[in-house]
This record gives sequence, structure tokens and C-alpha cells, in this order.
Amino acid sequence: MNRRTFLKLASAGVSATTPAPISLAFAAAPAPRPLFGAAVNPRLLREGHAAYRDAIQRHCRIVVPEGGLKWEGLRLSPTTFDFGHGDRFVQYATENSMAARGHALVWHLAMPKWTKAIETPRAAEDALRFHISTVVARYAGRIASWDVVNEPLPETPGTSAELRSSIWQALLGERYIDLALEMAAAADPAAELVINEYDLEFAGERFQRKRNGILHLLHRLLTRGAILHAVGLQAHLRGERDIDRAGLRNLIRTIRGMGLDVLITELDVMDHALPSDPAARDTIVAQRVAELLETVFEECTPKSILTWGLTDRHAWIPEHFKRRDGARNRPLPLDDNYTPKPFLKVLQRFGAPLLPTDDRL
Ligand code: XIL
Repeated sequence: MNRRTFLKLASAGVSATTPAPISLAFAAAPAPRPLFGAAVNPRLLREGHAAYRDAIQRHCRIVVPEGGLKWEGLRLSPTTFDFGHGDRFVQYATENSMAARGHALVWHLAMPKWTKAIETPRAAEDALRFHISTVVARYAGRIASWDVVNEPLPETPGTSAELRSSIWQALLGERYIDLALEMAAAADPAAELVINEYDLEFAGERFQRKRNGILHLLHRLLTRGAILHAVGLQAHLRGERDIDRAGLRNLIRTIRGMGLDVLITELDVMDHALPSDPAARDTIVAQRVAELLETVFEECTPKSILTWGLTDRHAWIPEHFKRRDGARNRPLPLDDNYTPKPFLKVLQRFGAPLLPTDDRL
């Protein structure tokens, strides 16, 4: 046995005296796994929220801030930034060896009032450049993946060329998306650049239009040479709404065929139209998550899977989808007391971290 073979076997944990297994050189690489994580609230990362931080540390390998990196939180005025929440978030991720995503450089919502004074294409392009280059450069090397454009499509696209209205779209047309991607790539060439969208998975004509809309947009962007790496499926599921498995598979296959990755960026399940019994509700919520992930995994392993929050105690769903019976919403993997729900078991089936007590899978 020469020295090289010996070292190779030794590093594979094979002793020099045992016969070398023939297949060693061809051992299959471990199957890729998605990075699991959640959106976190930067306010709760401060001292005094130990249970919250504990749960994040236990369950997350990747985090994204729920707020704090949106214009509203960052941009006090046309010339100033408040990086308080963003810096705390990034420091938390770094200290805990978690990957970090950024959300969101361009979105029609959460815009400060002063942006209404942006009235010309020139001013819009300048404002966009100032914002994106400052924010992305600040966190270069620490935020590995950015939602560059969030929700570019209308609620119900009329034609597949239609975009959602925003100041950027009004002043710059579709070019705002190319510009934003170009600016982000220039500020951090290593960052993963993502277009993030919702309602891409459900059955029904409205949602098929959304799938067509995103594919046409991606096609136009790539044809123009845009720098884009992945599509984020927000995946805000609804307990009462079916997933179009064939439609979703086709969407993912086409996205992958364009050379783009797929991420699941904001997974949760709206439960306002489900029965009030908590156990029955949790079962349906978990079934919807399973349906989504089974379908996605039939086509590809998403690079990351993030839920929008981790515990029902701190969820955004009640802001817009409160239950009529007064019961609290249960849209996330952990309940109000941080106890795992069937939702978490489904995530673990697809590779989410197991807890020391989770040996029953
Ligand atoms: C939500 C936050 O969770 C809320 O706290 C805030 O009030 C509004 O925005 N899609 C997105 C997220 O891309 O940015 C939204 O986050 C939820 C829907």
C-alpha cells in the first residue's frame, strides 16, 4: 500500500490492516440537505427573551430578520440609515454560527413616507442605488443571501407581463428589477440574489397566472443578462386551500431548467378558516406543510427552508388573519409555549435539526 492510499483510507477511518472496501473510492457523497431556519424578530434577540433565543438556537441554522432590514426600519430620511436592528441581527447570526439572509431590498410595502417625494426616474435610480449599495456592502460576507426584489407580481396578474405597482415600477418600469439585481451584485459579488414571491403553489386560475407571471419575468430577466441566482417561494400556505402539485412541480422544474435555485423563504400556514379544535388544526396545518415539501422535493432539494417565525407566540398571521372564534392562531412549528407541534415533525422528516429528545422519528 503506498502512502497516498494509506492516508486516504486512514482519513476514511479504515485501518491499514483491514482489506480495503472496493467501493470506497466511489462512495456516494451525502445527499444535499436544505439549511433550516426561521425569520427572527431582532427586538427579541436582546437580553430578556431567553426562551425565544433558546428556541432559535436549537432549531435554526439560518435566520432572516422579520423586520429591521426593510426600508421602513432602516431609512429615517433620504440621507440616513438606522442599522441598529440589522447590526444586532447580523451579530446574533455570526455569534451563533448561523447563516444569514437579508430581507428585503425592494418591496412595495414598508416604505417610509418621505419616499413619496421621489418623482423622477433619475431620482428613483439614485435612491435605489444609494440604498442597495450601502446596505449590501455593509453586510457583505455576513449576509449570504438577499431577497433583492420582494413580491414583484400583482395579486392577480392580468397578463404575464404585468408587474405590481410601486414607486420603482411607476418611475423606472420593469428595469427597476434589473437595476436592483445589478446594484446588489456590484455591492457583494458573492451574495446569492433572490426574487421572492407568494401564492405560487395553490390550485386555481389566479395562482396559475401567478406561476406564469413569475416564469415570464424570470425569462425576460435572464434573456437580458440579469444576475440572479434563486427564486424564493414564500409559501404562506392556507389550511383550507389545496396545493396544485402538478402546477408547482412544473414551476420548479422550469425554474431549475433556467439554472436557478429554489428556496422556501417564509413558510407558515394560515389557520383562520380551520376548525377550532387545536389538535385537529395542527394536523391539517402539518398535512399542508407535508404536501408542499413532498411536492417540492420531488423536483429538487431547496437550498434553504425558512419558516416566517418559529413560535405561535410571535407570529405575523394574527396581524391579518385573526380567527373569528377568538382562538389564537397556530401557524408555526412551535406553539405559544415553545412546544413542538406536528408541523415541526414534518420539517424534521425533510432534514430539519433533531432535538436530543427526538428519537421517535
Ligand atoms: C411581515 C412581518 O412579519 C410583519 O411583522 C410586518 O408587520 C409586515 O410584514 N411577506 C413578506 C414579509 O415578504 O416581509 C411580511 O412580513 C409577511 C408577508
